Amino acid sequence: MAIAMTTGYSAQTEGAQLCIEAASDWALTCVDHLDDQSNHVLIDYGAADGGTAVSLWTRLLDRLHARQPKAHLTLIGNDLPSNDNAALASNLALQIPGQAAPTVLISARSFYEPTVAPETVSFGFSATAMHWLSQSPGPLDGHVHVLASNDADALERFSAQALSDWTRILALRSRELKVGGRLLTVNLSRDSKGLYLGNNGGETRHVFDQLHQIWHDLMTEGLVSEADYQKGTILNFYKSPEEFTAPLMDSGSEPYRNGLRLVDERTVYVTCPYRRRWNNDRDTATFASGLMATIRSWSRHSFASAGGEEAADELYKRLQHRIAAEPEQWSLDYVEHHQMMERVA
Ligand SMILES: C[S@@+](CC[C@H](N)C(=O)[O-])C[C@H]1O[C@@H](n2cnc3c(N)ncnc32)[C@H](O)[C@@H]1O
Repeated sequence: MAIAMTTGYSAQTEGAQLCIEAASDWALTCVDHLDDQSNHVLIDYGAADGGTAVSLWTRLLDRLHARQPKAHLTLIGNDLPSNDNAALASNLALQIPGQAAPTVLISARSFYEPTVAPETVSFGFSATAMHWLSQSPGPLDGHVHVLASNDADALERFSAQALSDWTRILALRSRELKVGGRLLTVNLSRDSKGLYLGNNGGETRHVFDQLHQIWHDLMTEGLVSEADYQKGTILNFYKSPEEFTAPLMDSGSEPYRNGLRLVDERTVYVTCPYRRRWNNDRDTATFASGLMATIRSWSRHSFASAGGEEAADELYKRLQHRIAAEPEQWSLDYVEHHQMMERVA
């Protein structure tokens, strides 16, 4: 299911940039591992406008160029056709004057499809993008997010869809990688305690419960119909470490048969940058609008497509009011899973 980001993505998502920075050590390890070749293709899957990853790619390109000065480098930014791909092209172009002087290209296709020819990619990277499901696994009762719901039947369907999608993504990527190429995925996840983005175990408000409460209020007030309320579902899934590694532990899975192997994995926590700033400056108005905008950037599509633009606008107005009314009760903390993989055959 396609997600449409609102415009000015990187301006609204400081947290995503911190998540990328937290993975930069493993990204450097991946490019350091690449054998000498005449050319290397590097690709960023689900790059949005590319702004959050500019400094990471500069470091990676410089490092690879320093190690392999004769190799031609190509950097591809991938995202959906509906993405702001003009902004992505501009951000990729920032790399051209650098020492590595790469060729830069856009792949405006879903990462649920092949994006480049088989055995062309030396290093594939993706941050905070591969949690969106390829299709709806059916209805969800009484909530907007399956992990926050009590709908056991939906949980089973969503988990099965997420695992099948993940295996498909890894199968596609394993075909695109060269032998010896590496893939690093940085994904929103669920840790061993069941914590995930928006659920920090009760330290602050559960963000998905809050979104659901407001969405339910809009239904009881007649601003959205009961049918549209039911359709208001965020079609993503935060997998556990075991779910992320499962296709690589199964010698019969397509990614495994294509030679993709797990090198390492870890769970990383990134605390909410908006909340950290509020702790210092107590500027509640800026905190409320900034935090609301970052939540809106990835969730708005789910509500606007179900109940229309006006209902979605009302939801985020109320969300901002809630944050402003009790700022100490709000924080959007990230739980990210890093998975480093290599194609060995
Ligand atoms: C939260 S943004 C992350 C952007 C950037 N990687 C970062 O970490 O800041 C998620 C991006 O994934 C993209 N995306 C979602 N589903 C996709 C798909 N099937 N194929 C390609 N991109 C997809 C969205 O369009 C969006 O730009």
